Amino acid sequence: MRREKIKNILDSEPGRDVLVKGWVKTRRGSKQVSFIAMNDGSTINNIQVVVDMQAFDEEMLRQITTGASLAVEGKLVRSEGRGQPLEIQARKIEIYGPADPEKYPLQKKGHSMEFLREIAHLRFRTNTFGAVFRIRHALAYAVHKYFNDKGFYYLHTPIITGSDAEGAGEMFRVTTFDLNDPPKDGNGRVDFTKDFFGRETNLTVSGQLEGELGALSLGEIYTFGPTFRAENSNTPRHLAEFWMIEPEMAFYDNDDNMDLAEEFTKYLIKYVLDNCGDDITFLNNMIDKGLLERLNFVLANDYVRITYTEAVDVLSKSGKDWEFPVGWGRDLQAEHERYLVEQYYKRPVMVTDYPMDIKAFYMKQNDDGKTVRALDVLFPLIGEIIGGSQREEDYDKLMRRIKELGIPEKELWWFLEARKFGTAPHSGFGLGFERLMLFVTGMKNIRDVIPFPRTPRNADF
Ligand code: 4AD
Ligand code: MG
Repeated sequence: MRREKIKNILDSEPGRDVLVKGWVKTRRGSKQVSFIAMNDGSTINNIQVVVDMQAFDEEMLRQITTGASLAVEGKLVRSEGRGQPLEIQARKIEIYGPADPEKYPLQKKGHSMEFLREIAHLRFRTNTFGAVFRIRHALAYAVHKYFNDKGFYYLHTPIITGSDAEGAGEMFRVTTFDLNDPPKDGNGRVDFTKDFFGRETNLTVSGQLEGELGALSLGEIYTFGPTFRAENSNTPRHLAEFWMIEPEMAFYDNDDNMDLAEEFTKYLIKYVLDNCGDDITFLNNMIDKGLLERLNFVLANDYVRITYTEAVDVLSKSGKDWEFPVGWGRDLQAEHERYLVEQYYKRPVMVTDYPMDIKAFYMKQNDDGKTVRALDVLFPLIGEIIGGSQREEDYDKLMRRIKELGIPEKELWWFLEARKFGTAPHSGFGLGFERLMLFVTGMKNIRDVIPFPRTPRNADF
């Protein structure tokens, strides 16, 4: 017999024989009959297996406990019990792997998220994390579908690089040196010309710089890969290893950029609502009662578009007692972003034209000489979910900025050459995949929307 997934079985008609394989969620019953709730990961819904205790070996039956994996063959029938439409009357049961009930850490419900993080290798087995990671898959698929349908090309930009795209210096070094005894040059400094790549290298903080080169030839590209930041931010919104989606488009100005950001994020949210209904409903009931309403609200309303200067104005007049001061030239902090989104405008907000001094070197300079054509998209409960900009395509202006900031220009020769040969207006942005996951699932901590989180002092599993 061929094994069937529980999702398909639950969608099918009774009256036939089926073979399921999965893990025991719960078992209850009497000396005569046992009811096993089985799950195989294909859906949040379990299938009930009814076991006539007299018909099976006692020793085998003893091993059917929460967490055990098994195969069950039997007849699919309408269930007379409440809570499920169908059930399987077991005829044959094979145990693959028992799970000692004395030691299996996932008993019953109600484990804290913190505890589950410590057993991240097993937390997939819970309803919550099953739902979260099915949704994560669906979102990733929707990213590719959206861009493919729009004619964007998926570009694989390097993970090991020599550049610091964001200029913030928050990089993890990549080396094969013996750190206790690295080769030194004549001045006693570490000699990286002897390192694996013959130069200093690090894990990328963004695929943008290479992505721009693709866009200035292929037209519209996107990257979707892991990015790494060695910032010591222990917050519910920061990871040291996170996934970013970076579209980059030739001939787009910042207004086109905003249109894309809004259409794209709405598409992803709608995709999950349309395709992950059971999981979203579960999360809405168990994790965040406002989730569905919030997702639908974002879909139903236009995002607000304001400049940084307007945002500072709103914040200054708010009468709030801010932890971080508000003033033109200062960066917006999470508390400011969330005030704008959750209290003032009450919907996603796209903020543009930030002061040049608080944004990266590559952003297009405005004529005022003070601001750049930046774009941040702010979401309810999350704050910044997207960062992007129109890019400076003028060689001289870009070069001047690089010199002002003391960025080693030699390292960026290839990036600068894009401005020498057939330069063109272009724009792009980066969407933090886990930030979007937080918004879509209602989960509260970014450590709980990536399978194995990497954060300061934590790289277990
Ligand atoms: O605003 P950021 O730093 O922008 C860039 O990296 C640009 N190169 C993107 C581009 O224009 N192509 O990061 C983009 C997004 C943020 O808005 C945030 O959602 C997410 O990446 N992000 C993080 N997510 C989790 N943990 C962190 N430490 C993050 N840092 C940024
Ligand atoms: Mg940013």
